[in-house]
Amino acid sequence: MTAEKSRVALVTGGMGGLGEAICLKLAALGHIVVTTHSPGNAKTKEWLTGMRQQGHEFHAYPCDVTDYDSCVACVAAVVKEVGPVDVLVNNAGITRDMTFKKMDRINWDLVVKTNLDSCFNMTKQVADGMIDRGWGRIINISSVNGQKGAFGQTNYSAAKAGMHGFTKALALEVARKGVTVNTISPGYIGTKMVMAIPQEVLDSKIIPQIPMGRLGKPEEVAGLVAYLASEEAAFLTGANIAINGGQHMF
Ligand code: CAA
Repeated sequence: MTAEKSRVALVTGGMGGLGEAICLKLAALGHIVVTTHSPGNAKTKEWLTGMRQQGHEFHAYPCDVTDYDSCVACVAAVVKEVGPVDVLVNNAGITRDMTFKKMDRINWDLVVKTNLDSCFNMTKQVADGMIDRGWGRIINISSVNGQKGAFGQTNYSAAKAGMHGFTKALALEVARKGVTVNTISPGYIGTKMVMAIPQEVLDSKIIPQIPMGRLGKPEEVAGLVAYLASEEAAFLTGANIAINGGQHMF
């Protein structure tokens, strides 16, 4: 990749797992990186200090991505204190896995609000500015399970599939404005979210389905995010890029 102009990149849920790897990669390319954390997350200060000790000066803002007003306040503060957002990575996400028989309204709503409504709530705050400036990158982190469905994930699969519908429609609307919108669909990556799957399920049902025979690495997904955020990726929009070790091809 060629040297990048420094941009302001906002990564939701960047304090751990995939989000942290994305923050590190974008920072390594010279971008100014802002992340969001759940309001009241006691680990924020410690995380920022740890990152500073490793030479990374990240910005972190409280934001409940399920709550529209919280997103309004968060992005307004980022714009005022750091600058207009050029790259938005909608990464924050949760699972609440259970079979449909056990799925209740609370766990349906929680997952759909966190994984899907969040894309509207955050993108709404940055899209007009990107259009006005004639440059922007919106990257939605979905999942292989939004593409193929997953046992125990009616809520998550629905939300993750919905993200790509959002990507495609918005990509059409902003294609002539210098703004690209893309989805990345990672497979099973070695993060806390995946390690929370019972080991027996991981060993017997998941790893055997991955032709590469291993979990992905957060850095492998972060490299793809960095490409989509780059100047070079200007002609790539409305895509859903799978990165899953060969688990699902279509
Ligand atoms: N495929 C087929 N059958 C499955 C299955 C699967 N993947 N997982 C479980 N089953 C079967 C079990 O074998 C069992 O069958 P029997 O009753 O015939 O023995 C039955 O379903 C019930 O299984 P459990 O005892 O495990 O049921 P449970 O209610 O305790 O838990 C579950 C169900 C929550 C779905 C649990 O199996 C589980 O956590 N599965 C993993 C779900 C998963 O893969 N989540 C992905 C998280 S990571 C992620 O989402 C990141 C990403 O984007 C990729």
